[in-house]
Amino acid sequence: MNRFHWHLTEDQGWRIEIRGHPELTRVGAWREGANGPYGGFYSQDEIRGVVEHAARLGITVVPEIEMPGHALAALAAYPELSCTGGPFEVETRWGIFDDVYCAGNDAVFEFLESVLSEVLELFPGPAIHVGGDECPKTRWRKCEKCQARMVREGLRDEDALQSWFLEKIGRFLHGKGRRMIGWDEILEGGLPSGAMVQSWRGIDGAVAAVRAGHDAIVSPTSHAYFDYGLDRIDLARVYDFDPIPPGITEAQARHILGGECNMWTERAPQDSLDSKLFPRLCAMAERLWSPAATQDLGKFRDRLLIHGQRLASMGVEMGPESES
Ligand code: ACM
Ligand code: ZN
Repeated sequence: MNRFHWHLTEDQGWRIEIRGHPELTRVGAWREGANGPYGGFYSQDEIRGVVEHAARLGITVVPEIEMPGHALAALAAYPELSCTGGPFEVETRWGIFDDVYCAGNDAVFEFLESVLSEVLELFPGPAIHVGGDECPKTRWRKCEKCQARMVREGLRDEDALQSWFLEKIGRFLHGKGRRMIGWDEILEGGLPSGAMVQSWRGIDGAVAAVRAGHDAIVSPTSHAYFDYGLDRIDLARVYDFDPIPPGITEAQARHILGGECNMWTERAPQDSLDSKLFPRLCAMAERLWSPAATQDLGKFRDRLLIHGQRLASMGVEMGPESES
């Protein structure tokens, strides 16, 4: 709510104009649809407009450029950055796919650093999200270049290779005065220096991160994925969320920077967005910004009656609180 985490690249589409690599949007922004190509992307001018608008509202935009996995749209545009050389198509199905950036090819890092350089120009905020989630190691295990990298760098397995990959990207970002965020899979194979961890597969990733002295963001699928239906996450469940996991010290708790609600819009048609976000977002706002001692679902519901009127006057089409 004061941070807009903007997930701009995926297997199913590359959504940000990168001037040095025009194929990313010429090819990577479009996938096969029922009635011809489906897709689109934000021009750099449009992105500047969003960042400025957000800044006026007190919101910092955090862009996410996914690596090493969830990269098929980029690989469709530049197949030479994969382990096999492709060819690939922008993915039309949802899921986790084996073809990822090759960790053994130096051109991959030149490409990613060049992409990130343009991203840094567009997004002045302190943090850059690099994904890091759901990266199968299938191709890396069979790839001569990846295996040679592991031998050269003394890496014990492919998880360590992913850690090496993100450590290298992290060094690049730190050199530009920024911090790196990754999903909790970046804990596997060793946490890259200084990285913030976004805990999504539950909250254990946040616990492990803060115990290791790193900062963490909490957005577990159990409470924070608002693309999920109300059958799984209703208003009362969101209101029950505790962003501070049990079992950590007060000093460690200070490393929990905050929480996030995730709305994967590719899975939610625009006309259902408001009703999926509200009123759940109101509940999350209160849980993240109020002390646990004030938690009272009944009183929150009373306040929501008034706040709902405010939202309605702003044109927000609030949805139901639960399924029934
Ligand atoms: C995620 O939802 N795959 C981070
Ligand atoms: Zn490879």
